[in-house]
Amino acid sequence: MRTILSRLNNNPIGFFDSGVGGVTVYEQVKKLLPNENYIYFGDTKNMPYGEKTEEQLLEFADKIFRFLEQQNTKAVVMACNTTSAVVYEKLKNNYDFEIYPIIQSVAKQISELPIKKIGVFATKATINTHCYKKELQKHNPNLEINEIPCPGWVKIVENGQEKTNEAKLAVQEKMNEMLKFSPEKIILGCTHYPYLLDVLSEFAPEKTFINPSIEFAKIIKKDLESKSLLNKDLCEKYEKFYVSKSPENFKNSASLFYKIEQIPELVML
Ligand code: DGL
Repeated sequence: MRTILSRLNNNPIGFFDSGVGGVTVYEQVKKLLPNENYIYFGDTKNMPYGEKTEEQLLEFADKIFRFLEQQNTKAVVMACNTTSAVVYEKLKNNYDFEIYPIIQSVAKQISELPIKKIGVFATKATINTHCYKKELQKHNPNLEINEIPCPGWVKIVENGQEKTNEAKLAVQEKMNEMLKFSPEKIILGCTHYPYLLDVLSEFAPEKTFINPSIEFAKIIKKDLESKSLLNKDLCEKYEKFYVSKSPENFKNSASLFYKIEQIPELVML
């Protein structure tokens, strides 16, 4: 049941991810909607989500939704492919705000691209659900899809090691595998992966890669607009970052995409 109170226009938009990945979505949304208040939760204690079970992910996501609910969020952006794939369907009716899951939100637009073969890089947990495949083929059954899990990439990003030889070798291994399929486009199906775009572009032209966050941000804006949920208040805005571990590391690793002014607050859920 949605109450009127939770949907006040100047209530914040919540974001969550296992860590800095969701910042790639946050940055896009904030650019499009600068007049909003924001709360971001990075579950750095429990990352990487891609290696967790459904039971664990349900528990983490429910706690984060409850935390965001306490902050009166009017909407929550699941800036995390893994939880969108594994737990969204099970949890989506349990809270008092709009919920935007990344995969289900962007699949239609991607499926309409004039191409026949598409690759997906994502976490092990996301690939195991075949959520991208199912969602894309729902709209375009003729699309050929090759899904490849990339364990290890998230930790490289969380540790700010995008420019290391380790990162290059990890990316090279998966790109070699993917290129055998000759994809016309490759979806970066984990919000951490855009941090690796420089390395990825050493193996295929940058325009091959789809960062779903760009479309996702437009979809979120359009939907909030259509529901008259955008903030019309002209007072000073706030953004608050919370993490469950290593706040300074989060601030440093996120800086490739977004400059966080203050050290995030540590919270245990
Ligand atoms: N960034 C998240 C995703 O999009 C989670 C990655 C992880 O922690 O394994 O899937």
